[in-house]
Amino acid sequence: MARILVAEELADAGLDMLRAAGHDVDVRIGLSTDELRDAIAAAQALIVRSATQVDADLLAAGDALVVVGRAGVGLDNIDVAAATERGVLVCNAPLSNVVSAAEMTIALMLALARHIPQAHQALSNGRWERSRWGGMEIYRKTVGILGLGRVGLLVAQRIAPFDVALIAYDPYVSPESARAAGVDMVRFEELLERSDIITLHMPRTPETVGLLGAENLAKCRPHALIVNAARGGILDEAAAAAALEEGRLGGVAMDVYASEPATQSPLFGRPDVVATPHLGASTSEAQDRAGMQIAEQVNLALAGDPVPYAVNA
Ligand code: MLT
Repeated sequence: MARILVAEELADAGLDMLRAAGHDVDVRIGLSTDELRDAIAAAQALIVRSATQVDADLLAAGDALVVVGRAGVGLDNIDVAAATERGVLVCNAPLSNVVSAAEMTIALMLALARHIPQAHQALSNGRWERSRWGGMEIYRKTVGILGLGRVGLLVAQRIAPFDVALIAYDPYVSPESARAAGVDMVRFEELLERSDIITLHMPRTPETVGLLGAENLAKCRPHALIVNAARGGILDEAAAAAALEEGRLGGVAMDVYASEPATQSPLFGRPDVVATPHLGASTSEAQDRAGMQIAEQVNLALAGDPVPYAVNA
C-alpha cells in the first residue's frame, strides 16, 4: 500500500480506482506551498492538475516520491527534468480532454465571432442592443491553426464543415499528413498574414511564450480573431490589448492566462474580448477520463509495472 497525495480535484472514478488498488488516498485541495511541502513528505505519489507548481523544491521535499501524475495534458507546471534527476516518474493523461478542449475552442470562436457573451450580458441587464453586436461569418474564412497536434487536428475536423480554408503552422508536422486532414501547412508569418481567425494549440515552452507578442501581432489582419484555449502566455495579453485598442486586431477569446488563477488582465472588460476561466477540460466526460487514466498510470507506477503515458521513463 502506498500513500497518494491528491492536491487538486480528481474525479471520484479515479479516486475509487486508487483506493481499490489498496492505496491510502489523501485528498488535500487548496494547500499553500508550505503545507504542500509538508504533506508530500510521506507520499509515494502526487496527483495534480494545472494549478500546482511541481518544482524542484517541492520534489526535493518528497523523499519517498515515486511518481507524479498529471490529471490532464499540459506538463508546464511540472519540472520534469528535476523529477527525472530524482528518479521520480512523471505521467499524464494525454488523451483525456482533447475533445473537450477542441469543443471549447469552437465554442469560443463562435462566441467571439457573434459577440454572444456580450449580447447576453447586455440583454440580461435589460438592454436590447441589436445594432451594437453585429458579427462575422465563419463561412469561407481562413482559419489558421498554430500547432497541429491532437487538439489542433480535432479543431480542424470540427471547423471544416463551416466551409473554411484551413492552414496551419507546426514545425513537427509534415505537409503530407496535414493535407490528409484538409490542412495546408504554411510558414508562421504567412499564417499570421492570411488568417481571419487564428487558433492556438501549442504547449507552453520557452519557445512559445510570448510568440504572439507585439511584433507578430502587427503581422495579423486588422479584423483577425485570435482564440487561445491552449496555454497562457503564448498570446501576450498586454500586446493583444494594445492591438485591439488601436484597431489592429478584431477580437480575442481566451481560456488560459499567463498567470492563473487570473482575476486581472489587460484584456478583461473589453467589448472585443471573450474570457473564460480555464474551462477547456472542465466537462464531466473529460474529468472522468482524466481521473481514471491518471489513476491507472499511477497504480501501474506504484506496482513497478510499465507506465504507457510516462513522459520521462
Ligand atoms: C490540460 O492541460 O490538461 C488542460 O489545460 C486542463 C487542465 O489543466 O487540467
